[in-house]
Amino acid sequence: MITGGAGFIGSHLVRLMVNKYPEYKIVCVDALTYAGNLENLRDVESAPNYVFEHADVCDFGAMERIMRSHAVDGIIHLAAESHVDRSISDPLAFVRTNVEGVMSLLQAARRVWNGAFDGKRFLNVSTDEVFGALPADRPDLKFSESTPYAPHSPYSASKASADHFVRSFFDTYGLPTVISNCSNNYGPYQFPEKLIPLVINNIRHGKPLPVYGEGLNVRDWLYVGDHVRALDLIFHQADPGSTYCIGGDCERRNIDIVRSLIAVTDRLLGNSEGHSLPLITYVADRAGHDMRYAIDSSKLQHDLGWKPVVGFEDGLERTVRWYLDNQQWLDRITSGDYREYYRRHYGSDC
Ligand code: NAD
Ligand code: DAU
Repeated sequence: MITGGAGFIGSHLVRLMVNKYPEYKIVCVDALTYAGNLENLRDVESAPNYVFEHADVCDFGAMERIMRSHAVDGIIHLAAESHVDRSISDPLAFVRTNVEGVMSLLQAARRVWNGAFDGKRFLNVSTDEVFGALPADRPDLKFSESTPYAPHSPYSASKASADHFVRSFFDTYGLPTVISNCSNNYGPYQFPEKLIPLVINNIRHGKPLPVYGEGLNVRDWLYVGDHVRALDLIFHQADPGSTYCIGGDCERRNIDIVRSLIAVTDRLLGNSEGHSLPLITYVADRAGHDMRYAIDSSKLQHDLGWKPVVGFEDGLERTVRWYLDNQQWLDRITSGDYREYYRRHYGSDC
């Protein structure tokens, strides 16, 4: 059972699992919030080993029913409110989905599996943001599995809280849980509220490219395909109670990401070099903006033989191409709730 399977990372994971494991039944559970989109799964929706359940993870009764009716023996939990800026304007929604949601799933798993934990697995897909922020001038420092939790945003605090509950279910009830903490993902099907698809979408419309503060904050970028390959390995091979950090070893300043996107997008659109550079617009900084994230994924590399295979330049080119080839997907998404959110957050239409 994969929760949040109609979202960005979830849809890549569902696709990988459905294609790689024809003998499994993959149950995708999603509430289809503004971020969930069944179009992301169109290519697998008629696969014989795929089932979709439209349900809210906070609905304990529904989770228990779905687990029993499909004899679920493994859960990969991705359903979440995932955007930091939304968590700043509406923190309670994050407590509900990210904290109550994981509690409802943990309880359902505990009840349905009823102590028969052999062959069962609960993987909680978490974020590197639970570790707080690193200084920009200490490249030697990275987050690892032993870094203490120090979240700053309501989003990261809700994810940290979820991780604590997950660990408590392992320690208290022996539920076979595993946690993964990943850095920033990018790739096809990412909702265009996040930096990379937002910038691509705005370049194509000739709209301002909002850069928070001075654009010097650093993120560690990982192509989404590499993330879901790591989740597959962790789900199948990690020891119960363990934690894995996942990262791309690819630190970039936001302003450099925006400049790279301009270079690739302008080239693919046939614009002259530097055509969209004047669109860069420095805007008010995000409240509590974490300076830098960086992940040391050596445990995952050493224990499970994982390493990222898509280099950043290649991944960015693939990503921009995908968005330009799928402009209808973008157009359908950038309506409704998104338009309203964009106006509120950036003070102008998108
Ligand atoms: P997303 O916002 O694209 O997708 C979230 C999905 O969860 C959507 O399909 C949405 O409909 C669904 N959902 C939301 N609330 C729900 C509820 N109450 N019940 C059922 N479904 C619900 O998110 P994403 O970027 O794909 O992230 C997926 C997970 O990975 C999240 O848990 C996030 O914290 C984590 N993560 C994301 C990144 C990243 O860079 N995007 C990095 C590390 C970890
Ligand atoms: O690190 C993992 C996290 O990465 C995930 O847990 C989150 O779900 C995911 O949203 C992402 O969080 P970020 O806040 O890092 O991603 P976002 O794309 O929102 O922003 C990336 C950086 O770009 C961040 O420093 C803020 C900045 N930014 C973002 C937007 C949307 C801008 O400068 N302008 C913008 O318009």
